[in-house]
Amino acid sequence: MKILLCGFAIAVLAQAAQTGAPGAPVRTADKTGHVSNYDEAKVGTYTLPDPLTLANGTPVGDAAAWTSRRRPELIAIYERDIWGRIPSTAPPVRWTASPVETAGGAIVKRSVGTVGSGTRAPRIALKVVLPAGAAARVPVILLVQFGGGGAPVADPPVADDILARGWGYATVGYNDIQPDKENAFDQGVIGATGKLPADDEWGDVSAWAWGVSRIVDYLETDPAIDAKRIALHGHSRIGKTALWASALDTRVAAVYASCPGEMGAALSRRDYGETVDDMAQRFPHWFSRTFQKWTGHWNQMPVDAHLLIALSAPRPVFVTGGSEDQWADPVGEFKALIAAGPVYRLLGKKDLGTSTLPALDTPIIDGDLGWYYHKGPHAATPEDWKVFLQFLGKYFR
Ligand code: GCU
Repeated sequence: MKILLCGFAIAVLAQAAQTGAPGAPVRTADKTGHVSNYDEAKVGTYTLPDPLTLANGTPVGDAAAWTSRRRPELIAIYERDIWGRIPSTAPPVRWTASPVETAGGAIVKRSVGTVGSGTRAPRIALKVVLPAGAAARVPVILLVQFGGGGAPVADPPVADDILARGWGYATVGYNDIQPDKENAFDQGVIGATGKLPADDEWGDVSAWAWGVSRIVDYLETDPAIDAKRIALHGHSRIGKTALWASALDTRVAAVYASCPGEMGAALSRRDYGETVDDMAQRFPHWFSRTFQKWTGHWNQMPVDAHLLIALSAPRPVFVTGGSEDQWADPVGEFKALIAAGPVYRLLGKKDLGTSTLPALDTPIIDGDLGWYYHKGPHAATPEDWKVFLQFLGKYFR
């Protein structure tokens, strides 16, 4: 009995140590002993890698130098040291469409993409919803959603607003592309290559990004869709994915990364909320194995979140944070958007337009970088979506 009680007391204490404010868990990283910080005074000082200086120190003075030199250099770093390279052995996808359905004022097209061949080939279920009776090709928002792999896939909370604007949307469940779990590289598209990734090859995020490109390939074949206007949305780990997918595939016309947090839009060099140490420990399968070397060495990474954002320039990027999502370091996301500004300006676009964190629930959407900090949790709220549609409306007229 004594032993049982003792065990119970330890369990309660351990539980207390894990629980911070809502959305602000306190975690201790195994390898470094780092404990989550939520105190601005203890964030530390840091110098961000300059977006407009090449690794060899040469300044990037014009748009051509960004596009032909700095951008490829950054992509190569992310491929080699962070998300992992997509191997050329990734199998092709063959799409099969079901008969078109109509529902209210919308047309619903369901298709399945078979990845490679064989009886165990992964199958990606895609749903495309378009406004009925459109006179011209329509823009589409592609939502990579949680779910898939047999679990349901949600529609956007603003589906009617999207259709009323004359736009369409498409949904896919990310687990159909690659299951989001450890030790699952024998499944999904990675499994379909028939071999485990090399140290610098893809983890889940690159696999999901690969899936985005294959879906864009398919959307390009639909004469009802304006493939020059495909926006991409993902929340949280899929928000990180949306930024990386857009970096890799410039056919993505706009990005909405919801609460993307650490290794997404939040600056890793800020010691606030989740850190590289936590992430490398808890979600190693999202990355290439090479990522592990940054544990305890975030300041030496040749990249940080402002550069991941800048890789979408000159295309519009919208990021959200939540007041009850401090784990994702919303302030670090806002600061990364500011630090991506020089690239947007170099390419003749507008930066965020402010360096002062606005009050909660105040959209900052005048520039080509957009920000919305909602009062509330780690979620893509209907209000976030409304602000995003307004932002996107500047481009998808
Ligand atoms: C965890 C993880 C985050 C991630 C989130 C999510 O909280 O630490 O980095 O963004 O899951 O995807 O919901």
